[in-house]
Amino acid sequence: MLNDIKEIMYTEEQIQKRIEELGEELTRDYAGKNPVIIGVLKGVVVFYADMVRQIRVPCEMNFMTISSYSGTRTTGNIQVRQDVTVDLKDRHVLILEDIFDTGNSLSFVYDHLMQHQPASLKICTLLDKPSRRKPGVTLKADYVGFTIPDAFVVGYGLDYNEYYRNLPFVGVLKPEVYQK
Ligand code: IMP
Ligand code: MG
Repeated sequence: MLNDIKEIMYTEEQIQKRIEELGEELTRDYAGKNPVIIGVLKGVVVFYADMVRQIRVPCEMNFMTISSYSGTRTTGNIQVRQDVTVDLKDRHVLILEDIFDTGNSLSFVYDHLMQHQPASLKICTLLDKPSRRKPGVTLKADYVGFTIPDAFVVGYGLDYNEYYRNLPFVGVLKPEVYQK
């Protein structure tokens, strides 16, 4: 598995330090708001578990699963596979995501959750790849861990064909792995 990694982009320590900083911000911003924190599965699981433990306010946890991403390419055509199981009306809702790439997924999730008429809806993403944003996507992340260049990354929840999610760091995959 490690042989497939070209370089480590962020170490475990760098990620944890950044999450602590984000946690301070989120703890301040969500004080008294009892937010619902929604994770977009599965890429977010590792970040989610670390992030929520740095948000020191009472909060609810909920998840949704969307299709569709295969290999290194997004396929467009997104659907809800598993919806949230909490009433979001008039709630303060925070979306946690692993990566904001073309923006297709987050735009879909954002619009979907907006239909529930939350009191507020914000986005926190570990990684942001603004250079990959599809023209026309105006959505912005409210909280960003790291802004990264256009490279395909894996680890810390991020996968390539479902593998590498359990690497503790964020690394760049060797191009020959996905060009095979
Ligand atoms: P978007 O819809 O193009 O913004 O893509 C968002 C989703 O694509 C993320 O939730 C990831 O699951 C996946 N994704 C995008 N870029 C990468 C990457 O560099 N590595 C692994 N997964 C990625
Ligand atoms: Mg993925």
